[in-house]
Formats: sequence, C-alpha cells, structure tokens
Amino acid sequence: MTQYLTALWRNLNCSAAGDRAASSMAIGISDERIAWIAPQADLPAFERAPEFAEYDGAGAWVTPGLVECHTHLVFGGNRADEFGRRLAGASYEEIARAGGGIVSTVNATRAASEDALFAAAAGRLRCLIAEGVTAVEIKSGYGLDTQTEAKMLRVARRLGRELPVSVYTTFLGAHALPAEYRGRPDEYIELVCTDMLPTLAEQGLVDAVDAFCENIAFSVAQCERVFETAARLGLPVKLHAEQLSNIGATQLATRYGALSTDHLEHALEADVAAMRRAGTVAVLLPAAYYCLRETQPPPIDLFRRHGVPMAISTDCNPGTAPAVSPLLTMNMACTLFGLSIDEALLAYTRHAAQALGKSDLHGTLEAGRYADFVLWDVDSLAELVCWLGASPCRAVIRHGRIVHEAPGMRETGS
Ligand code: NIG
Ligand code: FE
Repeated sequence: MTQYLTALWRNLNCSAAGDRAASSMAIGISDERIAWIAPQADLPAFERAPEFAEYDGAGAWVTPGLVECHTHLVFGGNRADEFGRRLAGASYEEIARAGGGIVSTVNATRAASEDALFAAAAGRLRCLIAEGVTAVEIKSGYGLDTQTEAKMLRVARRLGRELPVSVYTTFLGAHALPAEYRGRPDEYIELVCTDMLPTLAEQGLVDAVDAFCENIAFSVAQCERVFETAARLGLPVKLHAEQLSNIGATQLATRYGALSTDHLEHALEADVAAMRRAGTVAVLLPAAYYCLRETQPPPIDLFRRHGVPMAISTDCNPGTAPAVSPLLTMNMACTLFGLSIDEALLAYTRHAAQALGKSDLHGTLEAGRYADFVLWDVDSLAELVCWLGASPCRAVIRHGRIVHEAPGMRETGS
C-alpha cells in the first residue's frame, strides 16, 4: 500500500461524529479513499516514495466531510423583498397564492443564462465548502418546463465538475404549478411524467426524484404519478412532506421506499412508524422553520423512539431558507428542535449520506469511504454547534486533497 499513499494525516484528535473519544489518530489515504485509520502510536513505518506526503493536523479535531442532503442551490434572482413582506405579516402561503414565492423564482430562473446561474450558485456553494461541506444534493424545480429544468440540472452537474465537491442531482419538476398551467395541475403532472422526467433521465441529469406534496403544491395522487414514473425509470424518490399540514405525504413516500422525507413538522406517529419500516431518513430543515416562524417543530421524540435516523440540511433556497451555513443550521436544530450535539453531528454526516443513498462513499471516517474530512480548530466538538456566525474550520479535505484552508493554519512536518 505504501507506494499508493499520497497523504498521511497525523497528530489528529480523530473522532467519528458522535464518538467523543479524543485520541491522536492518523489517516492513511490511497487513491482518494481512506485506506486506514490508526492510532498515531501504531503508525506503520513508511518508505519515502515521491507521492508520499505528510500533513500535521496539530491537534485539530477531525470529522467526516459534512453532507448537505437537501438544497435548492441553483436559482435566478433573489426574494429578499418577501422577507420584508413576511415581517409585515404576510404568510408564505399568502405570498405563494399571490404569485410570489416559488413562481417568482421560476420567472427569474427561466430568464437567467446558464453561465449566470452557474456563477451565482458557485458563490453559494463556496460558502458551504468553506464550512466543511464535501458532498451536496442540488434540486431542480425552478424551471417547471423541460428546457429550464434541464438548464438547472446541467448547472448542478457543472458545479460538481468545477468545484471540489460531490454533487448529487434531484429532479423536482413537481415543485409548483407554473403560471401557464393554472387550473390544470393534472395536465402539468402529465407533462412531468411523459416528457420532462424521462427526457432529463435519458440525458443522465437525474440521480433522484422529489416532489412538493402539500395543499399549496401537489396532491398525494399527483405525487404518486411522479413516483410511478421514477420507479419505472429505476430512480430513487424523496418527498417534501408534512411541512405546512399533513395530507398523507409520508405515507405515500414510504410506500415507494423513499430515501428521505423532508421537513416533517406535521408528521404523526403512524408516519414515523412507516418511515422506520421503509428505512426512510427524516431530513430536518430548521432554517426554513425559523425563517417562516413556524411554531410546531417536527416530532423529534417519535423519531428517537422509533429509531428513525435524523439528518439536517440548510434547505438553501431563495425563499424559505436563504441559508448557506451548516454550522448555524446545526445550532438551530439543537436550539429549536432539541437535538443533542451528537445527534446534530451524526445528522450532518452519517445520516445525511444515508438520506442520499450514498453511505458507501460519504458520511463516516472508515476505510473504503472517500477521504473527505474537515479539520476544526476547537477544543471539543460541542464548539462546532454552539458558536453563531463563526467558522472554526481550519481545512477541508476532499478525496485526499486540501480544497479549503483557513489562512495561516497549514503546518508541515512535526
Ligand atoms: O424546501 N417547500 C418547498 N420548497 C422549498 C421552498 C422553495 C421556495 O420557497 O423557493 C422548501 O422550503
Ligand atoms: Fe426544500
């Protein structure tokens, strides 16, 4: 193995998320993957090969790279004006029904060039990477026609090629009803199922399929048609479920073996039990809850009692969650929803990777996983979650290479 070794990380207080033992560990990297993790004291003797490199973590804490499992990162324009309208008392539903909300971002996204969408999304994605994100899910859903949905997904794929982060794409054609289909939601769903999704899947742009199942969006029957199409195409599904009300979204998603159901403020015990049976991850989006000033948190105790894994994500989008800080989002999950620090760290690593169906590649520090990890300048992992507005991130390593470094942190040798 020595000749393939490209980096040796030493003097690390290595802890998998949730593991509080702080012992000095070293991580061996081979071919972009973790080859081994060993106590520093037991380091095997290495021959000096040209590709051999050594990096001294100088007592930093290390966690797996953070995994963002729910974002709407690619969009045109912004909706800062809605923030003001909501402060003045308008609700998300009222703004949406008045032609604002998702539909206004659809207009801006249709009008934007592919390069402009890329540049704006790249800026947001760099913020995520700078706080330790090494894998991100990006949804379409602001195009709502085949051409613009394809444009969004091509931008997402390009982000994955040009920035140091793994990108997984999700088709969210059933996000909102476009204005040209007003009063004809079933016809729009027909277009999604017979044209949009098959065309985009054929172009290799779709890793998973999502929908917004809600009174202000699509019914259970309409989302089921989308899921039937996904199943025929062999694509996994997930669902925006039980965010504003309970219309049976989670029950539908679990019948289709969904990877995750997301939001879940209005989920009931029967929903949580169905998630457990289906192996569905609960994705919590506290930034949206916070921005909408919701008052009913998701049923965290039920997830715990039924053993449903919880993931957390920013939900980065221009309306309900203009959020690009995983650490602040973790803090919100703890402060607003009552997660423990260990639950929050697991939720942003292991369980987020599970929500993407990518546990074999991301989310844990284990031999065989991608060598994606973050060095943190903290005395304990609790500090990752307790600070508001500061990032103790010292370095982000993706596929064994440093992709982000805080100024002046790098030390070499021992
Ligand atoms: O996850 N709930 C639907 N979709 C987004 C909101 C998107 C928007 O308002 O632009 C969400 O909160
Ligand atoms: Fe969302």
